[in-house]
Amino acid sequence: MRPGTDKRQAQEGAGKAPRLLLAVLASVFAVDPVRALPVERCVNLGNALEAPAEGEWGPPILLEDLGWIAAQGFDAVRLPVRFDAHWNGVIDPAFLRRVDEVIGWAGSEGLAVILDLHHFEALMADPDGQAGVFVSIWEELARHYASMSEGLIFELLNEPSGALDTARLGPLYAGAIAAIRRHSPDRWIVAGGEDWNGIEAMLELELPPDDRVALTFHYYEPYAFTHQLARWRDEVLPPADWGSPADRARIEADFDRAASADRPVLLGEFGVAGEVSPELRAPWTEAVRRAAEARGVGWCIWALEAEFPIRDPATGQWVPGVERALFGR
Ligand code: BGC
Repeated sequence: MRPGTDKRQAQEGAGKAPRLLLAVLASVFAVDPVRALPVERCVNLGNALEAPAEGEWGPPILLEDLGWIAAQGFDAVRLPVRFDAHWNGVIDPAFLRRVDEVIGWAGSEGLAVILDLHHFEALMADPDGQAGVFVSIWEELARHYASMSEGLIFELLNEPSGALDTARLGPLYAGAIAAIRRHSPDRWIVAGGEDWNGIEAMLELELPPDDRVALTFHYYEPYAFTHQLARWRDEVLPPADWGSPADRARIEADFDRAASADRPVLLGEFGVAGEVSPELRAPWTEAVRRAAEARGVGWCIWALEAEFPIRDPATGQWVPGVERALFGR
């Protein structure tokens, strides 16, 4: 049985107990009504399973990658997956086995996994037409992973945009959460708002009263700084500087705002393009990481070896400056 189930049952039982016993149980099972997400320091396994086909945007995920990640001190990975491209009434069984394999590798290294439904572009363009597919994918995943531990977390959708606005997201998420809860009553679910997981949109989301549903946002501010020089953009942005007191104050204010949410909050992505020098990448990354930690917000850096890499694919070593920015060593 999962530890969370034990605690919840203990709390329910306590409700019926005499006062003295209640006090004793409360001290033994002292848990917050909304317990923390089991994610503090996490890295995105970007450009692998959310590419049109794994291998098209970068090297496939290897067991050694998960070993390296765990050895650095990360406690979780966020796994972006383009499920809709592998869905034809059900998820392609061979593709699902590959997802199982990566989740299993992470688990064998003691890492939690945030399974993130990424790049569902048809849903952004036609929310009403694709809502049924979205809910079906989550129902299948919840059934498939029903016996997995709480270390597997479901993130409903990466970066809603286009026609998928706040008004549409509420009912869409409610449908998926209801489908998931039929199979996984206690699993953590993470949900983010429109505007590519913007902070304000996150705070406006209307979600069911479920204490295992957390919120998520992405942070790439200022965009012209974090995405400067990125060659994958249609229009390459010019060099930009960062680091004034006003720049730093903006991060603090933005994180105050994000942490004002009435649910646990996860920073699901942040980072600076790999084309930017370590002297600029590192201080921004450290400031954001510290702002998250100071507010009890778990963070996931984007990404292992994607366009905002933390590890050099050629050497298998940290990109200069990033280890210190993330772990202070
Ligand atoms: C996208 C990546 C992009 C990153 C930073 C992610 O959500 O999937 O393609 O590099 O955000 O913009």
